[in-house]
Amino acid sequence: MNPRPHILVVGSGLAGMYYALKVSSEANVTLVCKNQLFDSNTFWAQGGIASVMKEDDSIEKHIADTIEAGDGLCDLNVVTELLSKAPKVIEQLLHDGFNFTRNADGTLNLSREGGHSEARVVHAQDRTGEYLIKNLTEKIKAHPQITVLENTQVVDLYVNENICTGAWAINKTSNELILIRANLTVLATGGAGGIFKKNTNPAGATGDGYAMAWRAGALLSNMEFVQFHPTMFYSKNGNSFLISETLRGYGAELKLPNGDSFMQHYHKLGSLAPRDIISKAIAEQMQLNHIPCVYLDTTVFSEAELQGKFPYIFGQCIKHGINPSRQMIPVVPAAHYFCGGILADTSGKTSIPGLAVIGESACTGLHGANRLASNSLLEALVMADNCSKQTLQYLVDLEYTGEKFLNIAPVNLVSDEQIQKITNPAELQNMMWHFCGIIRTESLLKLFKNILPEQIKEVKNNIREYGLLPALIEQMNRLQTAFLVTDAAWKRKESRGCHLYKNYPLKLSAGAKSISIPYDGEQLIHIFEETIPQK
Ligand code: SIN
Repeated sequence: MNPRPHILVVGSGLAGMYYALKVSSEANVTLVCKNQLFDSNTFWAQGGIASVMKEDDSIEKHIADTIEAGDGLCDLNVVTELLSKAPKVIEQLLHDGFNFTRNADGTLNLSREGGHSEARVVHAQDRTGEYLIKNLTEKIKAHPQITVLENTQVVDLYVNENICTGAWAINKTSNELILIRANLTVLATGGAGGIFKKNTNPAGATGDGYAMAWRAGALLSNMEFVQFHPTMFYSKNGNSFLISETLRGYGAELKLPNGDSFMQHYHKLGSLAPRDIISKAIAEQMQLNHIPCVYLDTTVFSEAELQGKFPYIFGQCIKHGINPSRQMIPVVPAAHYFCGGILADTSGKTSIPGLAVIGESACTGLHGANRLASNSLLEALVMADNCSKQTLQYLVDLEYTGEKFLNIAPVNLVSDEQIQKITNPAELQNMMWHFCGIIRTESLLKLFKNILPEQIKEVKNNIREYGLLPALIEQMNRLQTAFLVTDAAWKRKESRGCHLYKNYPLKLSAGAKSISIPYDGEQLIHIFEETIPQK
């Protein structure tokens, strides 16, 4: 074995970057991302990192809040391990020079979010994700043992006899197909909120990791549990920006257009109830009152206070014509986070040797049926740290560690308009919202479950006709992720956490995690290879 093993990291959010930096002391790392290094879900995260950081809080309380939000599906051992390790990781970040928001006395300013019984969210004002990613990007770029491949779209994992030794990827600039070999491949590809019409994610959140792991034979779990964030700024023109839960933690209240509060009828924590309960309540109120949105009342705060504490949100509201110190902010729920994912242990180990997964793409049992706010950045950091410590145990043998390049000039040149026409991501986003959104019904799920395979077949035909266009790979990933969510949602005959099923409003007494059906098709790379004339 090479004395310095080669690790391939796919994805440049918090989990991928933090892992790459940690493991680079003992391995050579190639970090691949399909757009720019900073372009990740983490970059958009406002809230922060949940961690017990003050004396009158305790790990036990954090565990209890996480378990309550998870609605019977959290794994207690996993929750205990990951939450107990969080304070140490925060200490390490502080030691490494990260400056989180502090109080006048120099102590960390801890904010409170929905479902938390204490203020325990470490943050950098209301742009925590951006702050973390900007700092990590600088460190990654300067690191001699880390090679960054931007604009590089992974096509499929390279798996033989259930062992993963790298991945196929396309350099979107040179149009080359590259086989990147590695002793360990780590997926840190984030979630798939982008497959829904209303969502708080960047457009690149298309479920790439879920779909490629599924095609490679990995086990996925709990894909039906898509968390809808209750408060995205409502804009008639489509997706806008998140209104962080920390505003509600600070005292802002959800209201109807006439100024009446309604959350007290749904949960004892009112506007700070767990997200699944608030999103459902808002969806119900919107339907009952025939209104396109509800409102977040921030008018009790002065302009200076809002500008000082929430500069990003304040500035964005002003840009959208709302002064939140004088007008209530219009909000709607939007797809935000995938609680399920590729089945993994707390150090990222999957069912395929040579393949690990960390962060939102993983399903460890931490979130159960509904994630507690700000436990996601915590999970990304702790799993990345754990995985870096286990990496030497996860390595698989490899004879050839270089890269193989094949030129794949598109089979048939296609214009941007044609690509848009043959992929049409907006159509899928609308369907996902309609057929598999916040409140689900059996008939719509069943219908959609039968429509999706036809659309998947169409993309396969398009790959045969046009080649491995990055847009087609993304569309396949969107569709296959949509299928996994819809199939799992249809099969879970109960309402639990963020899975709300109109035909089955009650929760079953025994909760069990779901496992996705196995994939029985070909990998995209093989569909493409069939089209290459044999010599
Ligand atoms: C928020 O700031 O409301 C989002 C935080 C999270 O999703 O954990």
